[in-house]
Amino acid sequence: MRMYDIIMKKRNGEALSKPEIDFFIDGYTKGEIPDYQVSALMMAIYFQGMNEEETLALTLAMANSGDMLNLSALEGIKVDKHSTGGVGDKTTLALTPMVAACGIPIAKMSGRGLGHTGGTIDKLESFPGFSTGISTQTFIDNVNRIGIAVMGQTADLAPADKKLYALRDVTATVDNMSLIASSIMSKKLAAGADAIVLDVKTGSGAFMKTEADSVALAKEMTKIGRNAGRNTIAVVSDMDQPLGFAVGNALEVEEAIATLKGQGPEDFVELCLTLGSQMLIAGGKAKNAEEAREMLMKVLATGEALDKLAEFVEAQGGKKEAVYDTDLLPKASIVEPVYSPVNGYIEHIECDEVGICSLILGGGRETKESNIDLSVGIVLTKKVGDKVEKGDVIAYIHANDDIKLVNAKERFLKAYTFSEKQPKKSKIIKHIL
Ligand code: URA
Repeated sequence: MRMYDIIMKKRNGEALSKPEIDFFIDGYTKGEIPDYQVSALMMAIYFQGMNEEETLALTLAMANSGDMLNLSALEGIKVDKHSTGGVGDKTTLALTPMVAACGIPIAKMSGRGLGHTGGTIDKLESFPGFSTGISTQTFIDNVNRIGIAVMGQTADLAPADKKLYALRDVTATVDNMSLIASSIMSKKLAAGADAIVLDVKTGSGAFMKTEADSVALAKEMTKIGRNAGRNTIAVVSDMDQPLGFAVGNALEVEEAIATLKGQGPEDFVELCLTLGSQMLIAGGKAKNAEEAREMLMKVLATGEALDKLAEFVEAQGGKKEAVYDTDLLPKASIVEPVYSPVNGYIEHIECDEVGICSLILGGGRETKESNIDLSVGIVLTKKVGDKVEKGDVIAYIHANDDIKLVNAKERFLKAYTFSEKQPKKSKIIKHIL
């Protein structure tokens, strides 16, 4: 088999066979096929597309290119959750203890943040001492013992995807639906869960800006998951404004804790209950969404979900007292209010701009090597559709540096559009597929 023939075949619009896809992924992972040939193939795929069989073959080849996590030592149906990422997305922090408290084993691999979206691992590190750098054995042991563990993605999880994603990033071939879906799903399949609940975000803070594209991606990913023999459900949720009120690592942890105490923001609570219900149904713990919701509300009301978070934090070396006393989380030295410049309603918040403000404050990474400040960020007090009077506080900026604060504040206000007429509030849950 020759890479040249594979490129030509796809360039001419033909479908690639599974052996051809396996050949190029294997050769590329081993460094035997050069970047320039794979770049040409990616561009051919970008223009010609891939059918369902090709997409599945590519996903499986990438999933099998490194370690496949074996979760068979864990009892019960293992259910994973994946979010395509957004601003203020602290879902894993609240949802996983809720679901684990209902008896679903949570063995989750998570990543760090890059650019305007945050990462679960950074957020968890707001608990002093917390580490996700645990061995696979500790990871499995902790899930067996307390029902929940989160570890950083190992270097050898789907290494073909890692190489290919970096190449696509610099060759303008990221935004192809089949390539995105196979990239995300290869990592999910390698992470070993029996069932996968996907949270596909849509809107100005999401990877997919339009609802139609988000639904298409959700369909593509559920098709791959189901074809690979994993029960896969997708929820398409709103990311046209930040999720909840808090954006920034420790600030989001605080909001997740408030949620576990039954004091969470409406949109975030609804998202956790919807995703959690799908996880409980997929994990065989509930017959339908109504029963699942009741179970989830119960562990919130009894404090079992909050205690599960504390157990999890302690098991990974973190200070569990911070779960009950959030003053122990990192705090910024400056808290500056932002005032509404007009009377009216908040019509739109350019969501990714709010994420960029948090990045400017030091809460996110410009490059993989950047250090981040866990204490900074933004806490909104008003959201789209809310009425404001001129001079009302619409947000608080948490900062540790005066210059960064000025820059972030200027950009933050530009992210807002106000109107005289009340706009419609958008629903957090758009579709369940
Ligand atoms: N996220 C991924 O992991 N892969 C893509 O291709 C796009 C987003």
